[in-house]
Amino acid sequence: MTNRVLRAGIIGCGTISGIYLKNAARFVDFDIVACADIDYERAQARAAEYNIAAYRVDALLAAQDIDIIINLTIPAAHASVAFQAVAAGKHVYNEKPLTISLEDGRTLVAAAAAKGVRVGGAPDTFLGGGIQTCRKLIDDGWIGTPVAASGYMLCPGHESWHPAPEFYYQVGGGPMFDMGPYYLTALITLLGQVMQVTGSTRMTHPTRTITSKPQYGKTIDVEVPTHVVGVLDFASGPIATLVTSFDVHFHHMPNLEIYGTQGSLLVPDPNTFGGPVKIRRIGESEWRDVPLTHGYADNSRGVGVADMAHAIATNQPHRASAELTLHVLELMHAIHTAATERRHVQTINGCERPEALQLNLLPGTIG
Ligand SMILES: NC(=O)c1ccc[n+]([C@@H]2O[C@H](COP(=O)([O-])OP(=O)(O)OC[C@H]3O[C@@H](n4cnc5c(N)ncnc54)[C@H](O)[C@@H]3O)[C@@H](O)[C@H]2O)c1
Repeated sequence: MTNRVLRAGIIGCGTISGIYLKNAARFVDFDIVACADIDYERAQARAAEYNIAAYRVDALLAAQDIDIIINLTIPAAHASVAFQAVAAGKHVYNEKPLTISLEDGRTLVAAAAAKGVRVGGAPDTFLGGGIQTCRKLIDDGWIGTPVAASGYMLCPGHESWHPAPEFYYQVGGGPMFDMGPYYLTALITLLGQVMQVTGSTRMTHPTRTITSKPQYGKTIDVEVPTHVVGVLDFASGPIATLVTSFDVHFHHMPNLEIYGTQGSLLVPDPNTFGGPVKIRRIGESEWRDVPLTHGYADNSRGVGVADMAHAIATNQPHRASAELTLHVLELMHAIHTAATERRHVQTINGCERPEALQLNLLPGTIG
């Protein structure tokens, strides 16, 4: 049982804040009571919509009755907002990626540990019914011993639909930093920590032309690789290949598959919470659907905050943890470094597999 309901405040009232605010009502372990934004009018609008308090950013950071800052700012602001939250003695939960630079991520985690507050972060899709079901199948031996995995996030880029796509092509963007956190977090949940990494990258188009509105026709410079391929050696033995691209128009590849000595597992899109989960074992002539063993299969964004709040209140480790988000950040950097320096990169910031969620949780609860 939870000892108390923690009080959270959002900083960054943009697109993604809506689903956090909507879902907060579902979870018993925390309430979102206030929000702030560098653009105060945005905070006021969100606050009015969800009947919570609007603050200036400094005032929210100083508020005595806020336990957790949910940092939903743009990636370039993740580090500075999180550092301020930690300095103010508050727990902080960042949207992905944890920070842009690896040095900032490491410093943030160390600063929080010194201050005695928690750092957590998105994605929390690995707590959804789809990936938790895959976790249970692997742990229960349905595919034997995992041998390998492959993941694919292939698309032509975002300039045809996103109203302001520039950031996808600037430092901190690119396909691996944008979508890699979902795939890497799922892989770590399923297979454990990564020991070493190598990779190759290329930039196919040095410029991109926006074809969405309102910037139709504007040409933007591409600063980062747009086809990023990683090879990940897991400490437990399996080898994964992860291909992320903004350079592919059409393909036939799955999101994520795990291959074991006794069969193969088709993992659902790790950017979602639900299924389908499919398995095919030696001797079976077809893939078959596996019913989900766990809940939170709909859009449950915020379940990672609920888990952190529950863990704080009950003095247990939380799952979408500082170590996990830092390991993911380290892996994304390591793939790019390996490509630039033409070598394998050993990891430093390992993490334990986050504990599986319990079966039969009551709606809105974590334990
Ligand atoms: N939009 C999505 O579908 C989506 C999905 C998954 C993850 N995310 C992540 O969520 C985060 C936010 O994305 P978004 O789409 O909501 O962006 P957004 O641009 O719509 O909103 C970001 C908000 O943060 C505010 N902000 C920026 N810098 C700030 C600062 N220093 N202090 C206070 N407020 C600041 C902006 O004014 C804006 O209101 C990003 O980290 C992104 O990676 C977004």
